[in-house]
Amino acid sequence: MFFHIKELQYDAAPERPDPVYAKKLQEILGGHYGEMTVAMQYLFQGLNSRADKKYRDLLLDTATEELAHVEMLVTMIARLLDDAPVDVQEEAAKDPLVEAALGGRNPQHVIVSGLGALPADSAGNFWSGSYVGASGNLLADFRDNLTKESHGRLQAVRLYELSDDSGVKDMLSFLIARDTMHQNQWIAAISEIEQRECDLVVPATFPRSLEKQEVSYDFYNFSRGEESKKGRWANGPSMDGKGLFNYVASPPAYGPKPFLFPAPLPVHDTIPMVHPKPSKI
Ligand SMILES: [Fe+2]
Repeated sequence: MFFHIKELQYDAAPERPDPVYAKKLQEILGGHYGEMTVAMQYLFQGLNSRADKKYRDLLLDTATEELAHVEMLVTMIARLLDDAPVDVQEEAAKDPLVEAALGGRNPQHVIVSGLGALPADSAGNFWSGSYVGASGNLLADFRDNLTKESHGRLQAVRLYELSDDSGVKDMLSFLIARDTMHQNQWIAAISEIEQRECDLVVPATFPRSLEKQEVSYDFYNFSRGEESKKGRWANGPSMDGKGLFNYVASPPAYGPKPFLFPAPLPVHDTIPMVHPKPSKI
């Protein structure tokens, strides 16, 4: 059950309408790394969680806060669109110069949403559930959460730099601060699970004896030049403490040349002119 509180988590009041900026702000609402994505990601991770109750609670607490951020952004975008009635757009269309200057507006903010926010990014691509990562493995998911919060804070900071509206900047300063906390909390949760599982590699439950351990810590130089040799990833103990990094300047081809039999005639693939005999493997 969800309970909606009427007040906003933080105020979302611009100094003045700005439909062009409203389009830009859509990115952190309905973009790949926007508030809709993190809200749904934490919601699905939490509701599906079969792990310790504290992780489910952590996820659902944060999911619900992200819904509050969706509410703030929708409110802000609607207010930025306040002064963009249809007749203004029609006036603009009569003058090619004005139309060019106002070209940064999203016409769907009038035609589709009627001066409201859209579940879309700044280029008008509609939000997709494919942005959501929820695997049931908390270490994989928490790392994905950290990535999403990192991109989200980066985009919020860029939008802060693009605005000269004190009301917009004030709201963004709140969202940026919450992204600071959310990055920190995922780092803490990642560290806790890594320590509990005594491993950094996901999934820790798959026996190492079943992987080809001879290549587990090789770094392959798959290009000319060896600049990549000068890094922690190519030298010393592996980060999981279970091996040694090994720089391989000329990686071998472990397998033979591949051979595929021609497809059966009813598939209508191109028939090879020469039918090579498969080499013994
Ligand atoms: Fe958020």
